[in-house]
Amino acid sequence: MVAMLVMMALIGTNPDAPTPLIRCREAVALMHLNETDILYDLGCGDGRVCILASEMTGCRAVGVDIQAAKIETAREAAKMRFVADRTAFYRQDIMEIELNKLPATVFYVYLPQELLNRLLPRLEKCKGARVISYMHQLAAPLKAKHSEFYVYQF
Ligand SMILES: C[S@@+](CC[C@H](N)C(=O)[O-])C[C@H]1O[C@@H](n2cnc3c(N)ncnc32)[C@H](O)[C@@H]1O
Repeated sequence: MVAMLVMMALIGTNPDAPTPLIRCREAVALMHLNETDILYDLGCGDGRVCILASEMTGCRAVGVDIQAAKIETAREAAKMRFVADRTAFYRQDIMEIELNKLPATVFYVYLPQELLNRLLPRLEKCKGARVISYMHQLAAPLKAKHSEFYVYQF
């Protein structure tokens, strides 16, 4: 807890803050998803982006988070919103996943800059995948920028 507070003070933001709901709608619109897409939210928190994306577009969506409590919350929310059959949530450290082996067509990331920087080499191996990053830019060629969203195509 103390370490978390120190980290928040250092980076000036809450590393657990979810994407505001109004921004989630914008994010989903930018993803251009359909029923054949598979969205991965790396560090999914309460699963709101996956759940909304699945509701709005019929896509399949997978959320991964290191915190077990977030995964429980996301699974419950998916059931309540009737998208449990099209969504899945797993507790895992995203730094341990071979991202290029996932069936993802789109990745969503809202993560601290330092974590994003470390994730980038593995995202770049995901040929054909779109990546939408909220608030933080990746050191890669930008396809588009919309408000606080950065869009990449690898
Ligand atoms: C800023 S929140 C974003 C949550 C969600 N993506 C959203 O946009 O609402 C970042 C999330 O990443 C998770 N996270 C941080 N480091 C992680 C790691 N190494 N592996 C998996 N999840 C991680 C945190 O637990 C937190 O829920």
